[in-house]
Amino acid sequence: MCGIIGILGEHSAAPLMVEALRRLEYRGYDSAGIATVHDGVLGRRRAVGKLGALADLLVVDPIQGRSGIGHTRWATHGKPTVANAHPHRSGPVAVVHNGIIENFRELRAELEGKGHTFVTETDTETVAVLCAQNLADGLPPIEAAVATLKRLEGAFALCFLFEGEDDLIVAARRGSPLAIGHGEGEMFVGSDALALAPFTRRITYLNDGDHVVLTRAGAEIFDTDGAATDRPTKTVALDNMIAEKGEHRHFMSKEVHEQPEVLSYALQHYAGPGRDRIEGAADAVDFTGTDRLIMVACGTAFYACQVAKYWFEQIAGMVVEIDIASEFRYRNPPLRDSDMALFVSQSGETADTLAALNYCKGKAGSIVSVVNAMESSIARASDAALPIHAGVEVGVASTKAFSCQLTVLLSLAIHAGRTRGHLSAADEAQLVSRMFELPRLMNEAIATEPQIAKLAQWLAGARDILFLGRGLMYPMALEGALKLKEISYIHAEGYASGELKHGPIALIDENVPVIVFAPRDALFEKLVSNMQEVMARGGRVLLVTDAEGAEIARHGTAEVLVMPTVDPRLAPMVYAIPAQLIAYHTAVTKGTDVDQPRNLAKSVTVE
Ligand code: F6R
Repeated sequence: MCGIIGILGEHSAAPLMVEALRRLEYRGYDSAGIATVHDGVLGRRRAVGKLGALADLLVVDPIQGRSGIGHTRWATHGKPTVANAHPHRSGPVAVVHNGIIENFRELRAELEGKGHTFVTETDTETVAVLCAQNLADGLPPIEAAVATLKRLEGAFALCFLFEGEDDLIVAARRGSPLAIGHGEGEMFVGSDALALAPFTRRITYLNDGDHVVLTRAGAEIFDTDGAATDRPTKTVALDNMIAEKGEHRHFMSKEVHEQPEVLSYALQHYAGPGRDRIEGAADAVDFTGTDRLIMVACGTAFYACQVAKYWFEQIAGMVVEIDIASEFRYRNPPLRDSDMALFVSQSGETADTLAALNYCKGKAGSIVSVVNAMESSIARASDAALPIHAGVEVGVASTKAFSCQLTVLLSLAIHAGRTRGHLSAADEAQLVSRMFELPRLMNEAIATEPQIAKLAQWLAGARDILFLGRGLMYPMALEGALKLKEISYIHAEGYASGELKHGPIALIDENVPVIVFAPRDALFEKLVSNMQEVMARGGRVLLVTDAEGAEIARHGTAEVLVMPTVDPRLAPMVYAIPAQLIAYHTAVTKGTDVDQPRNLAKSVTVE
């Protein structure tokens, strides 16, 4: 992953780069660094850990210069050390890089053969050394960078900065996103427009394979063949403020609490004024000629697809396939003209999801995406991109994006149901009006937070935790387990409870808390039987259900958490709240870094 920034400015670049990197920290926070050119001299500062460490270093060891490049790292090759932190430098050239150089070993061997020594374990250092070699061979800086790019294989975004050149950055995009920002007598380049928002809203997105020569006078863009080309410049509407935590201790807590509001906002874009019909944004998608819907995503976004599979099957009578993007893209699945491929991604930049989308291009009849970032690569590559309206999500663990993804996917399933003649107007009106009750119901679920905080004392002591569900609650069990794993570092698994006796029940003993999501739906009795099987083997159950479910099934459980009663078809949005809050409070009890858990990044732009 990693975030990159480049500035040719009028003022000291270091504080501006720190500000931009703060906005890019969601892409990784293993280390951060900057390089500048001042009076022709290339200098750099790097620090391990979050951006704060670099900011502290710059206080005691400042760096001057109006031109610079910066980086926040999510380690791929080499541990998070200062030596492995970007910018990487070889003689007169410094490089920042997002992505992976696949042929770096061959290039490194070749350069070692020419007498170069390497001081890092990274693939990126190879780029800097190769460029330095090209300079030593007599090429001027721009040509040296271009010759370097020609030798690279893999997916990357790169910026080059040169000693003696304080009005030049060469940048390139192949697979990883890159945006150019136009200022007044200043130019910027960065991994996304949000990073550039403090400086400019006038943005040019590079196409894949482009490289750009940036000076304060402007940007000269060249396509894959090296021909000069124009890319449109647009003014993007972005909130200039980094989201603030408000009275919350963590962004994740704020984002969980925001869900009733953002879900209601999303709903307004997908439902008609009478609150009885889906219309508006969903009309951009025509399901009538579609025989098969293929949904592809990663992580939490994939679990949203897994929930939506039930909806599209039951509400729209559609044949639905789902897959995680990293598997789908290498399966070479046969596709037909009558297939619709639907991609779900909060960031819109997830490398595997984007690659899966590109695989479907020209094979599936239409490509639709459901995204939070409308300027993202996935949105731009789709025939129709539908926004989830969640607002900026800062916490690495996805929460409000998930419930907004669910809202948009349910709206699409309803739209598909009506337009395909599978859902009557009366049934649609009932379902849509119930969707409008969700914000209130989610608030009621949030009101159980004090009880969840107490339960977390128990859960935080566990080594393993199981989550069980059936039907729509099966993906919620998977999501609950994923949330808990990623922020509390407790091993957790989600299972379809009917599957338990086929193996996982062997894990049950009094030390493994079992969390059961059990709204009173058609599968409730079956789920309760599975829960009894767990309790008969000494398992300690936390039952998450509604008032009626609690009345029927509380006997023998260790704890019961009572959710509001909800139309079973809409239960995922309500049960997402305890799934998220259980993970949150368990993590807080354990004292882990909730918003920026170890080893993770918000946007996964490497395969
Ligand atoms: C988990 C989480 C991840 C993302 C996944 C896909 O809390 O956030 O599993 O859901 O990396 O990311 P997007 O939606 O940006 O494609």
